[in-house]
Amino acid sequence: MHLSILFLFFLRITSGLDVSIPTAPPIPRAPKISPSFVSFSIEQDRWTDWVGLTSRNQFFINTLENLQDLTGVPPQIRIGANSEDHTNFNPSAQTPQLIFPAPSTTVPYPEATNITVGNSFYASARFLPNNTHVIWGVNLGQDNITAAFLEAKAIIRAFHAPAIKSAGIVLDAIEIGNEADLYMNNGARPKTYTSAQYVKEWISFAANISAANAPGPLYWGAAFAGSSHSTSGFSPQAIFNEGILSSTPGQSISMISQHHYSGTFCFGNGAVLQDLMTKAYIRSNLTSFSPDIAATRAQGLPYVLGETNSFSCHGTPGVSNTAGAALWTLDYLLFASQLGVSRIFFHQGIGFKYNLIQPVTLTRSTLDGSILPSPQPPHVQPQYYAAIIAAEAIGDGGNTVVIELNVNDTRVSGYAFYEGTTLARAVFINSQAFLRTNSGNRASKHIDLDWASEAQETMRLKRLIIGHADDVSGLSWGGQSYETPDGTVNGTVEVEVLDVSSGFDIQETEVVMITFI
Ligand SMILES: *[C@@H]1O[C@H](CO)[C@@H](O)[C@H](O)[C@H]1NC(C)=O
Ligand SMILES: *[C@@H]1O[C@H](CO)[C@@H](O)[C@H](O)[C@H]1NC(C)=O
Ligand SMILES: *[C@@H]1O[C@H](CO)[C@@H](O)[C@H](O)[C@H]1NC(C)=O
Ligand SMILES: *[C@@H]1O[C@H](CO)[C@@H](O)[C@H](O)[C@H]1NC(C)=O
Ligand SMILES: *[C@@H]1O[C@H](CO)[C@@H](O)[C@H](O)[C@H]1NC(C)=O
Ligand SMILES: *[C@@H]1O[C@H](CO)[C@@H](O)[C@H](O)[C@H]1NC(C)=O
Ligand SMILES: *[C@@H]1O[C@H](CO)[C@@H](O)[C@H](O)[C@H]1NC(C)=O
Repeated sequence: MHLSILFLFFLRITSGLDVSIPTAPPIPRAPKISPSFVSFSIEQDRWTDWVGLTSRNQFFINTLENLQDLTGVPPQIRIGANSEDHTNFNPSAQTPQLIFPAPSTTVPYPEATNITVGNSFYASARFLPNNTHVIWGVNLGQDNITAAFLEAKAIIRAFHAPAIKSAGIVLDAIEIGNEADLYMNNGARPKTYTSAQYVKEWISFAANISAANAPGPLYWGAAFAGSSHSTSGFSPQAIFNEGILSSTPGQSISMISQHHYSGTFCFGNGAVLQDLMTKAYIRSNLTSFSPDIAATRAQGLPYVLGETNSFSCHGTPGVSNTAGAALWTLDYLLFASQLGVSRIFFHQGIGFKYNLIQPVTLTRSTLDGSILPSPQPPHVQPQYYAAIIAAEAIGDGGNTVVIELNVNDTRVSGYAFYEGTTLARAVFINSQAFLRTNSGNRASKHIDLDWASEAQETMRLKRLIIGHADDVSGLSWGGQSYETPDGTVNGTVEVEVLDVSSGFDIQETEVVMITFI
C-alpha cells in the first residue's frame, strides 16, 4: 500500500508538467481575438447546396448558429475558391448550371469545371444567419472582364435586396480571382506570368467593378495559394512593392488573404496523422507566414488565412476526416491567432474529406468514391468540435485576449483566454495520436497550474472525449454531441470540478478546457 502510493507519486512527478498562467495578459503583445475568428470558406460551385436555393438548408444554418450561440456572432463566409475562376454569369440561369468531371478514387467529389449562375445564386445569401458577413469571389482566371463585371454587379445587387439588408447580412468584400500564383501552372496564363502582371490585371478588373458600382465595394487582395515570403515571386510583399495599394481601386483593399494547406497527400496513414497533429509542424508551417503578416500590418491592413485546411486533394483519407484532425484544427487556429492572423477560414466543399460540416446527403464515399451501402445524411465531422471549443473559449464578451502558454512538452500545447484582463479559461491539447492500433496503453500527462491568484480554489473542466485519433465519429465535448440529425447539440453538459492545487490529467488525443470564472 505504502509502496504503491510512493510509486504513484513518483509517476506523477515524472509525467508531470508545471504550467504557469499569467493572472493578466501581457499587455503589449496580446491582441483581441475576433468572436468570428473561426470562419468558413465555401467552394462556390455547390454554394446553393450549402445554404439552399429556394429554401434554407436548416442543417447548415444550425451548425453556424451553434457557433453564434457561443460567440454572439455568426462565422464569416467566404464563397469562391477554385470554382470562382470557372464561373460565368447568365441572367437567365434560374438554377446554377454545373458541369462536373468524372469522380475518381482520390477526388470523389470534384469541383465543377463550368459553372453558370444567375441572380438567384447570389440572392441565396438571404438564408444565412442574420448579421453574417460575406466575402464573394469573382472570376479573374478566365481573363474575361465581362464575367467579373456581371458577377460583381449581381453580388452587389443581391446585398441591396431588402431581405438581406433587413437581416443585417452584409457584403464585406469582393475577391478578384483565386490563387493567381497558380495560373501559370493550371493553364489560365502563360508560364511566364508574374505578380506584376497580376497587379496590372487586378487593377483593371477592380477599376471596372468600382466604376460600375460607385462608390464601389471593398476588396480582399492576394488570395494566393503559396508565398515566396519576399518581394520576388507571388506574395503580399511583392504586390505591395508593385503598387497595388497605391492604385485607385487598391485603396479599397480592406484585407490581405492567403491560403495554406499543410501539404498535398492523397493517401493517409497513422504516421501522416501524427505529423499533421505535431506541435512543431503546426508552428513551423504557420510561422513561415510571419514576414507576410508583418508586411501586411505595416500597411495598416489586417491579414486573414482566407482558405485553409489540412491537406490538398480535398483532404487525406484516414487523416483529414478523423478526430486527430480536430486536434490539429484547434492547435492550428489558436496558434495562428498568436501570429497576427485576424481570422481563419476553413475551406469546405460538398463531400470534401476535410470538411467540418457535410450539409447534404452523400451517396458516394468521401474517402474513395465508392457507392455507399446507404445514403449518409447531413452530419458534422470531427473537426467541427474544434470550432465549437474555440468558440466557447473565445466566448461572447467581444473583448477576449488569447495567449499561448509556455508548455515544455513536444505534444501538449496550452492557451489562456482573458476577458479583458480577467483570466477566464484555458485550453490544453494533447496531440499524441492514440490510434486504433495502439489499443491498451493510453498514457496521460499530469498538469499542475502555477497560477498567481490565491483567491481561486476550484476550477471547472470539460473534456473532448475521443476514442482514437483515427476515429471518424463518436466524439463528445463535455458530455455533449453535435453528431445529431439536425446538427444541434444534444445531451447535458458534464463538468468536473477540481481543486486548482491538484492539477489535472490529460490523456493522449484529448482536449481539456478549464473555466476559472
Ligand atoms: C465571358 O463571360 C460572359 C459572362 O459570364 C460569358 O457569357 C462569355 O461566354 C464569356 N466569354 C468567354 C470567351 O468565355
Ligand atoms: C467549359 O469551359 C471551358 C473554358 O473554361 C470551355 O472551353 C468549354 O467549352 C466549356 N464546356 C462546356 C460544355 O460548356
Ligand atoms: C466594365 O466592363 C464591362 C464588360 O466588358 C463593360 O461593359 C463596361 O463598360 C466596363 N465599365 C467600365 C466603367 O469600364
Ligand atoms: C432576422 O432578421 C429578420 C429581419 O430583420 C427578422 O425578421 C428576424 O426575426 C431575425 N431573425 C432572428 C433569428 O433574429
Ligand atoms: C507542414 O507540416 C507538414 C506535416 O503536417 C510537413 O510535412 C511540412 O514540411 C510542413 N511545412 C512547413 C513549411 O513547415
Ligand atoms: C523542459 O523539459 C526537458 C525534458 O523534459 C528538461 O530537460 C528541461 O529542463 C525542461 N526545461 C524547462 C525550462 O523546464
Ligand atoms: C446524442 O447523439 C449521439 C450521437 O448521435 C448519441 O450517441 C447519443 O445517444 C445522443 N444523446 C442524447 C442524450 O440524445
